[in-house]
Amino acid sequence: MPEAIGGYFELELRKGHHPYPQAVAFNSARSAFKALVLARNLRRIHLPIYICDVMQDVLRGSGGIEVLRYALTERLELPDLPALQADEALLFVNYFGLKADYISEVLAVRYGKQLIVDNSQALFSKPQSGIATLYSPRKFVGVADGGWLANAPAGLPQAQSSRSQARFGALLGRLEDSPQHHYATFQALELALENDGVKAMATSTARLLDSIDYHEVARRRIDNLAHLRRRLDHLNRFVIWPVQPVAALCYPLLVKSAETANRLRAQLLDQHIYVPSYWREVLDNPTVPPIERDWAQCLLPLPIDQRYNVDDMNRLADVILQNMGKS
Ligand SMILES: Cc1ncc(COP(=O)(O)O)c(C=O)c1O
Repeated sequence: MPEAIGGYFELELRKGHHPYPQAVAFNSARSAFKALVLARNLRRIHLPIYICDVMQDVLRGSGGIEVLRYALTERLELPDLPALQADEALLFVNYFGLKADYISEVLAVRYGKQLIVDNSQALFSKPQSGIATLYSPRKFVGVADGGWLANAPAGLPQAQSSRSQARFGALLGRLEDSPQHHYATFQALELALENDGVKAMATSTARLLDSIDYHEVARRRIDNLAHLRRRLDHLNRFVIWPVQPVAALCYPLLVKSAETANRLRAQLLDQHIYVPSYWREVLDNPTVPPIERDWAQCLLPLPIDQRYNVDDMNRLADVILQNMGKS
């Protein structure tokens, strides 16, 4: 069919701002991961223990791919670098967007194309030449779904397109109401993504992602992170900061105990400050190593995103400081 000319307008969006135009676009990062593993015919994948469950779940029923989970050091690095056979790969998460140096200086050098970089938490970390890299843009900007695979293998099968128009409810709702009104809808959509299967990115999501001012998003995140660092670093057990300023996912506040984290989380909630958990499901495993348990229990990933400015960061820091003072 020829393209329409005229008629009523679609949602008006800018074009040409896509950060990774060479990447293959999927409905989620987990789909990008599954498509990559299948296309490469991998037999074994090394996955960190400290990651969301969906990355292992998505491989179920994919022809017996073996998943080996590895533990991390306190610096969120591998204690030793395992030797990989030709049909194995190691996935590493660029945690909070703050581990790019370790990836480029250590893992990429050691593993080359056998490394899969999971930049789901690192939208602004560019892919390294030839290394497959995953992105999950909705963790950084207001879209309902979507994933990118940079440096995809040649001959990836063309997936059917996902459809996102029914997933806009929570995003539009947040423009008109406070977030708690639409939180249940948001959660239901996140769950539904698990059943969407491996699909190509919906055109609506792709158009939205092409319209965003990424330069401004990055600038705000860098400024907000720097401000929280000035206010909170003295009470933070997280000390593995990169040397250069980074447009990170969040300010990772690692507190001394699960009790402190729970109490702070409740105080923040009381002030309508919402903090996610990375990743509660890690605790379902009774044999989870102590470092992963510590991160899953004691980490408060504080929001630093582009919606907020220095006054918001001060409000956030004040709540933390007042409550940590009482501990
Ligand atoms: C580190 C990491 N990788 C991958 C994913 C999966 O991303 P998506 O929800 O886009 O499939 C997540 C989701 O929480 C994640 O935290």
